[in-house]
Amino acid sequence: MAISDLWYKNAIIYCLPVAKYMDADGDGIGDLDGLARRLDYLAGLGVTCLWLQPFYRSPERDDGYDVADYYAVNEKYGTPGRFVEFMNHARALGLRVIIDLVANHTSDQHPWFQQARRDRHAPTRDWYIWSDQRPPDHEKGIVFPGSQKTTWTYDEEAKQYYFHRFYDFQPDLNTLHPSVRDEITRVMGYWLELGVSGFRMDAVPFLIERKGAGVAHEQDFELLHEMRHFLQWRQGEAILLAEANVPPDESLKYFGDRGDRLQMMLNFPVNQRLFYAMATADLGPLTWALRETYKRPPEAQWVHFLRSHDELDLGRLSPEERQQVFDAFAPDASMQLYNRGIRRRLAAMLGNDRGRLELAFSLLFSLPGTPMMLYGDEIGMGDDLSLPERECARTPMQWTSEPHGGFTRSDRPIQRVIDDRTYGYKAVNVSDQRREHNSLLNWTERIIRMRKECPEISWGDFEVMATSASEILALRYDWRGASLVTLHNFAGRRAKVVFDLKGPGGDLLVDVFNTNGDSHGRGGRHEISLDPYAWRWFRVGSPDNALHRAAQ
Ligand code: NOJ
Repeated sequence: MAISDLWYKNAIIYCLPVAKYMDADGDGIGDLDGLARRLDYLAGLGVTCLWLQPFYRSPERDDGYDVADYYAVNEKYGTPGRFVEFMNHARALGLRVIIDLVANHTSDQHPWFQQARRDRHAPTRDWYIWSDQRPPDHEKGIVFPGSQKTTWTYDEEAKQYYFHRFYDFQPDLNTLHPSVRDEITRVMGYWLELGVSGFRMDAVPFLIERKGAGVAHEQDFELLHEMRHFLQWRQGEAILLAEANVPPDESLKYFGDRGDRLQMMLNFPVNQRLFYAMATADLGPLTWALRETYKRPPEAQWVHFLRSHDELDLGRLSPEERQQVFDAFAPDASMQLYNRGIRRRLAAMLGNDRGRLELAFSLLFSLPGTPMMLYGDEIGMGDDLSLPERECARTPMQWTSEPHGGFTRSDRPIQRVIDDRTYGYKAVNVSDQRREHNSLLNWTERIIRMRKECPEISWGDFEVMATSASEILALRYDWRGASLVTLHNFAGRRAKVVFDLKGPGGDLLVDVFNTNGDSHGRGGRHEISLDPYAWRWFRVGSPDNALHRAAQ
């Protein structure tokens, strides 16, 4: 199949909230103009695709995931005209943009809900889910335990209860309603015309659920096919990336057996087991998740990530496994969230240890799929645990050592910039790291460059290799006659790994990052020692894959 133009397979995705990235107009709130000024930075880092978190008109009670108008840019961030200018800059630099599509629910301030709650006969009344009585299971399926008490709330105006999977100000849309489905595709069509390359779809398992008091669990996967069909008809290159934290065996339903639903899914099964592996050096669950997520249609692609703007959700680990991750990375209750996750930033979880950070990033950029980074992780930003819930890891980007980290000229930034000794903007900022040869920022730029030159990782077949060392993850990737091997030592002690490499060139492993790291084997057998938390990427048989890559 001639599918080598699927750009998302070898993309580098970078996720950011406009409000926290760069304030150009000096009102203390990040904006589209500010972001536009940072596009050179992002292109220079090697990012190829930005994921913009919701920037729509919104009361912002859930950081914009409570949308009041899908067609409007939040006035604080800019105007539709500024959005188009920003898109034009991005395109000039070859950067693609995907945006959040929050279609499971609206804000309670959305005119659809306002109209619906006022009048039982309003055309939009059935776009939401109502009940005269509060269903007995109203405390089940709460997404934010501790902050959310119920999934059914009484509305005085509507004189009925309405269903909300998330906070009470986010009434769920009835996505089985034909008019709601029309609206969703209309919104997609609007932003596609403005040049976006696709959507990160929020809360997909809930989006496709049949909702209502007392209804049996049922999901409508056909909606995903309809959305995909519409998307591709309007814009051949656009993609849908699902947020769906589901067990691996359900993922095929989201991709579609024939790849006719969503192209990409965030790989939650690997994400939580990766942190378990980093906490314990027990690779069993991670290996399981990699193998379980192996099978997928050719066009489908997993997106790997370390941290996102939400908590690190460990909900699918066993209680013992989860406790071990808490003990290692979030021992204090204030670092944990919703009884299932960790709300800290990556650098803080790893104790700002450069070796462990590099291990984590090397994994991110070499796990089989497409990597997604959270803004600020490239410089090792920390968190502010005095802020509530997930806000602690959503602080303004730290650009310089100037006041407010160079994020704003205003004295009243939308949120405090971190200013502690270890992670504060004077210690951690882009401009200093740009000038420091061995900074995390420059290191990240180099590994991204190498990653892009290793399409075996994103396109190829992969295998978790059997080796002699239980604490070392050994992956092999093969694509069009070129092969790559990566090794990661999860343990805090030196370890030796022995493995057999089959196939042509198997006697020579060329270390792509170090001139003196090559390994010479006999009969394909290699013995390699790795320092604590060390990692290596090797090309099989030759320093370059271009000549060895079979044309197709
Ligand atoms: C998932 C988003 O990532 C999260 O930030 C948000 O709170 C919920 N969906 C509700 O939209």
